[in-house]
Amino acid sequence: MARVLTGVQSSGIPHLGNILGAIVPAIGLSNDPKNESLFFIANMHAITTTKDAGKIIENTYATAAAWLAFGFDTDKNTLFRQSDIPQVTELTWYLNCVTPYPMLANAHSFKDKASNLSDVNAGLFDYPVLMAADILMYDVNIVPVGKDQKQHLEMARDMAGAFNRIYGETFVLPESKIDEQVMTVPGIDGRKMSKSYGNFINIFLPDKKLRKVLMKIVTDTKGLEEPKDPDTCNVFKLYELMASPEEIATMRGNYTGGNYGYGHAKQALFELIITKFETERNRYWELIEDHDKIDAELSKGAEKAKIIGLEVLNRVRQKVGFGK
Ligand code: ADP
Ligand code: TRP
Repeated sequence: MARVLTGVQSSGIPHLGNILGAIVPAIGLSNDPKNESLFFIANMHAITTTKDAGKIIENTYATAAAWLAFGFDTDKNTLFRQSDIPQVTELTWYLNCVTPYPMLANAHSFKDKASNLSDVNAGLFDYPVLMAADILMYDVNIVPVGKDQKQHLEMARDMAGAFNRIYGETFVLPESKIDEQVMTVPGIDGRKMSKSYGNFINIFLPDKKLRKVLMKIVTDTKGLEEPKDPDTCNVFKLYELMASPEEIATMRGNYTGGNYGYGHAKQALFELIITKFETERNRYWELIEDHDKIDAELSKGAEKAKIIGLEVLNRVRQKVGFGK
């Protein structure tokens, strides 16, 4: 049995890039009977940058609703909110005390912002240690993350190794699982879809609003009659990520044959999204109106995570000399 854990910051509403690049593959992994998956919403990490309680709450519900809508099984697995197990900050402290300053000063997440140090709060500097505590608290074997998180994972292993060397075997060393093959979903402007570029597609928007966003996808200016190149078109790239091989072949023919405009392709993309994700969108809308249901799911998850986490934390307390 491998224990798999991953987390996302509650810094936005999950978009199509998050869904295809992270949520769907993670749920696939969580359905494997050989795995036990823990998924959590990193709201403590989110407050290093988002200083708006309303937004943190909204994004936490949206993230939980998206995972549940896409079928994360909370009986087999565990879905929880980081702040529901505040003891993770206690573990962060123990790890802080074995973490050399230069390791943190070298973190990309910090270095990217280091040109303006007055903008860096201590939480942001300590971010990788809280992330290591998230992982080490649950005796995790595998952490699936994007390439951007690879360095944080290596730091978590280094901290676990340092603690184990000083105090004796305490932590399980986590392996990262970085899928180099993972698709990059383009945004409506053709760059990588990202919250920070404002080019994302929120598939949970109502039909009319969703259609409006899709109509804004940037294309070249070829006229209706002209044949078009599917492989350089953002609309086609998005279509290709979700359609069946037959649908893709037909769409290719439409592009190269002429007399098929970008408006038609965008309409087809819209129809594809609302058909393909009909169940998930309906479930999401039901859940997002039902905070009690999401709270109940998150409490159930916190209870399960706490049992594992507190056992590890007690082990650590003994090692550092806080036992009786
Ligand atoms: P954002 O760039 O919108 O801030 P995050 O960095 O919070 O997204 O990413 C959360 C997860 O979603 C990560 O696992 C990341 O690899 C995945 N992800 C984000 N954007 C994309 C994308 N455009 N294509 C594929 N996966 C993505
Ligand atoms: N730092 C991660 C991100 O921004 C989120 C995260 C926090 C995380 N703690 C984690 C991911 C533990 C994996 C494991 O994407």
